[in-house]
Amino acid sequence: MGRVTVMDHPLIQHKLTIIRRVETGTKDFRQVVSEIAMLMAYEVTRDMPLEDIEIETPLVKSVEKTLSGKKVAIIPILRAGIGMVDGFLAMLPAAKVGHVGLYRDEETLQPHEYFVKLPADISERKLFVVDPMLATGGSAIAAIEALEKRGAKTSNIKFVCLVAAPEGVKALNDAYPDVEIVVAALDDRLNEIGYILPGLGDAGDRLFGTK
Ligand code: PRP
Ligand code: URA
Repeated sequence: MGRVTVMDHPLIQHKLTIIRRVETGTKDFRQVVSEIAMLMAYEVTRDMPLEDIEIETPLVKSVEKTLSGKKVAIIPILRAGIGMVDGFLAMLPAAKVGHVGLYRDEETLQPHEYFVKLPADISERKLFVVDPMLATGGSAIAAIEALEKRGAKTSNIKFVCLVAAPEGVKALNDAYPDVEIVVAALDDRLNEIGYILPGLGDAGDRLFGTK
């Protein structure tokens, strides 16, 4: 199926169960998506480089660690990716945020781009592309194409999502082998209309209370 990291921390699994439940309403869904995103942000930043810096504590001078290397941008795929931004910003408060607007045609399942606004120095940043769902993979691939077209380096991109279908992981791996995929859960399959099973339904509608 391809390369994917499944972040199966007990807190994440517990919180995922909450958002999968059909009776979970918009307020709780939004809150828990944000909490899971924060936990995922903590883990996907594990390989960020550090450098030594000399500081003064109230008592002595001391050499301590500080983040170094590339600056970061968080790129939510609209709409549903917006639900993961706060959680990421809680861990990375100085990050820039770029937006890629895509919707999936319900008949053809093809993504359509309607908005792209990115930090100017996108080519120099480490990018966390966030979207709760990776279904066919069409939206993730289109979002990364949109970033690449504007100068982003695909080797700087991590795609972070809550629930993925094996079909989407394979498609994204095939299209962009150097993009690391990190998911909270790898589900069974897609149904005949492109929804992930067991999944959590339409992430955008559940986050924003539409439908
Ligand atoms: C959902 C989801 C992903 C996409 C995944 O967005 O947030 O972006 O579907 O499906 P794919 O892997 O088959 O492309 P949707 O198009 O429903 O738009 P929304 O976020 O505005 O609701
Ligand atoms: N998009 C969603 O929001 N949910 C799915 O199950 C598939 C695509």
